[in-house]
Amino acid sequence: MDESFITLEFKDGALHLIDQRVLPASYTYFICKTYEDVEFAIRDMVVRGAPAIGATAAYGVYMAASRLATKRGFRTELRKACDFLAKSRPTAVNLEWAIGRMWETFLKVEKEPTEKILFALKTEADAIRSEDIATNKAMSRIGNQVVPHKATILTHCNTGALATAGWGTALGVIKEAFYDNKDIFVYADETRPRFQGARLTAWELMEAKIPSALIPDSAAATLIRDGKIDLVILGGDRVAANGDVANKLGTFALSVICKEYGVPFYSVVPISTIDFNLSDGSLIPIEERDKSEVIFVGETQVAPLDMAVFNPAFDVTPHQNITGIITERGIIRPPYKENIERLKKGESL
Ligand code: MRU
Repeated sequence: MDESFITLEFKDGALHLIDQRVLPASYTYFICKTYEDVEFAIRDMVVRGAPAIGATAAYGVYMAASRLATKRGFRTELRKACDFLAKSRPTAVNLEWAIGRMWETFLKVEKEPTEKILFALKTEADAIRSEDIATNKAMSRIGNQVVPHKATILTHCNTGALATAGWGTALGVIKEAFYDNKDIFVYADETRPRFQGARLTAWELMEAKIPSALIPDSAAATLIRDGKIDLVILGGDRVAANGDVANKLGTFALSVICKEYGVPFYSVVPISTIDFNLSDGSLIPIEERDKSEVIFVGETQVAPLDMAVFNPAFDVTPHQNITGIITERGIIRPPYKENIERLKKGESL
């Protein structure tokens, strides 16, 4: 079954994004007319989620090329636009990966007439978007194999259609299990401070009519200790070559609790989220966001304005705490370093 909403779509010369800053109170589209609008939309989290920001940035590169193609120094200016887009959020590798694909496409056609260059870039951005949906569907089918018939699942942040070009990663697995008539129940962490779980995952679970409940992040430990959770399934923003996973802040703590109580812990990521060049998670750049996200909840001030704040957007879960990493080519299990190396070589898992 498919959603009735489209997270991102290029039409009428502009990129239309569901404005995820205001869901679920309002359902509106943010329209990017320039690549600077695209950079803002990623940085301000109009659009968020590793695969979604990758596909969004790909259209940003196409939009930059559309404006710069007839100008002097096109190649240099386009490279600058790519670097500008790539800096909008540092942790999710999908952004660099998608921009890298767009740049490679450009290099193949740069000597061609302008229309051919623009056609090639638009085609590549469309491919990144549609491949993401197909990848998510493949991961869902594979991930469904680890979901028992009567499972209570805990998830964190938002990994659904909103976090991707469509369908979702971890939430895609959960939807697949539900549509496969498995009798599942989902607990969604609210995910302080941006509330992606409360605002976005809760909304997607309700849209899909999946039996579920929202919990404050700090309730997860009690549910896990009391044997109320059969498995944890969540996403990932960058996976290092040894299997360490950077994901939304709070993931690491969940993994420690799961390990303590023997609860299976899965991360669901497309292969584009694996950074084969990083040996371990300590090298993953972790984005720190503005203190206002912690001091305010919406318009309401909840802490003294001058209070110092530590607000990392992500944390790194060591591979030792992870039961399996679900990808479109199969489930990576320990030993992660060896198995990720095999995946890189194109060998089966
Ligand atoms: O800060 P966000 O909302 O972009 O963080 C998103 C996450 O951490 C997701 O878990 C991750 O991107 C995987 S989504 C398919």
